[in-house]
Amino acid sequence: MSLFDVYPLFDVTPVRANDVFMYDKNGTEYLDLYGGHAVISIGHSHPTYVKNITDQVEKLGFYSNSIQNPLQIQLSTKLESISGCEGYKLFLCNSGAEANENALKLASFHTEKKKVIAFKNSFHGRTSAAVAATDNKKILAPINAQQEVDFFALGDLKGVENSLQQNDVCAIIIECIQGVGGLDESTPEFYRGLEKLAHQYGALLIADEVQSGFGRTGDFFAFQKHQINPDIISMAKGMGNGFPVGGILIHPNIKASYGMLGTTFGGNHLACVASLAVLTVLEKENLMQHVHAMSVYFLEKAIGLPKLKTIKGRGLMLGLEFDFEVGALRKQLIFEYHIFTGSAKNPNLLRILPPLTLQKEHIDLFFEALQKEL
Ligand SMILES: Cc1ncc(COP(=O)(O)O)c(C=O)c1O
Repeated sequence: MSLFDVYPLFDVTPVRANDVFMYDKNGTEYLDLYGGHAVISIGHSHPTYVKNITDQVEKLGFYSNSIQNPLQIQLSTKLESISGCEGYKLFLCNSGAEANENALKLASFHTEKKKVIAFKNSFHGRTSAAVAATDNKKILAPINAQQEVDFFALGDLKGVENSLQQNDVCAIIIECIQGVGGLDESTPEFYRGLEKLAHQYGALLIADEVQSGFGRTGDFFAFQKHQINPDIISMAKGMGNGFPVGGILIHPNIKASYGMLGTTFGGNHLACVASLAVLTVLEKENLMQHVHAMSVYFLEKAIGLPKLKTIKGRGLMLGLEFDFEVGALRKQLIFEYHIFTGSAKNPNLLRILPPLTLQKEHIDLFFEALQKEL
């Protein structure tokens, strides 16, 4: 049987990894500035992560959500204290799309409305409502097109208000820093304006923190810079450092009822232990402070780079926008310099999404390579 061919692949076969480095089957070392698409948060094969998952799988790897699982309580307690999202409730699932799907569904249950407001260049995942709220017609199957979504440019509060006035919108969903779309971010006034409008017209504000959450921007969540309190916050990627785990944080005003949401695998024992290890290491190694320091260093090194138009993003969720398309440069970085970077919808943007344990010497390696190539 062959594989369903949906991914264009680089001809590299990593077989092991440690911290910010990956090693292929020939023993070649690659610097990972991509983090497997912003997933590796505390570094590949972190010893705390490996030990905690190994210990847990020896005891109990999985049981369904029909029994008591104290690890879920431990995770929600630790998440509340580290994130500062006091009083929110936690629902666990398995991926980013699933987190957004549950967030949108919950908003619809809560408000009894069904239209969604989303933004140009957004990416929220590939499940039914999440993909409908994603600004990419190419990945929207006819079955998904039945979900009504109004798209607006970032910053367009007037357009958002006009749509809300129809009184049929259940949710406004937004990435405070866009990921796949290319690291665009609006002003604090815009995000606060959205929060106000959502409250005024009885819609819920969903912050999609799937990519930007868990310390990647130097704050626990990217929205926190704008001092807003979203009704629902979706999470995944860095949450499990590679173990598939996602979730939503739900404002206490939204009430639960039995059967409203559910999943077989979500919140299983291994997923909880993986995410608890991430939180433990984030705290113990002061990784959010470290992200700020590395981001400053990265930006200093980037200034004056030839052909660079602008630098976007925050923390270690960064984009270098050049005056040329970066596809060939990305390949050259992998095959000539053994450095992984990411791409974006914007073809001129090179994305930097490394493990949060990145050090100055790794940033130096990247800029030495870029200086040679440009
Ligand atoms: C902001 C954002 N939301 C949702 C998703 C979907 O996550 P997943 O691929 O885990 O379903 C992604 C994935 O890239 C993302 O960047």
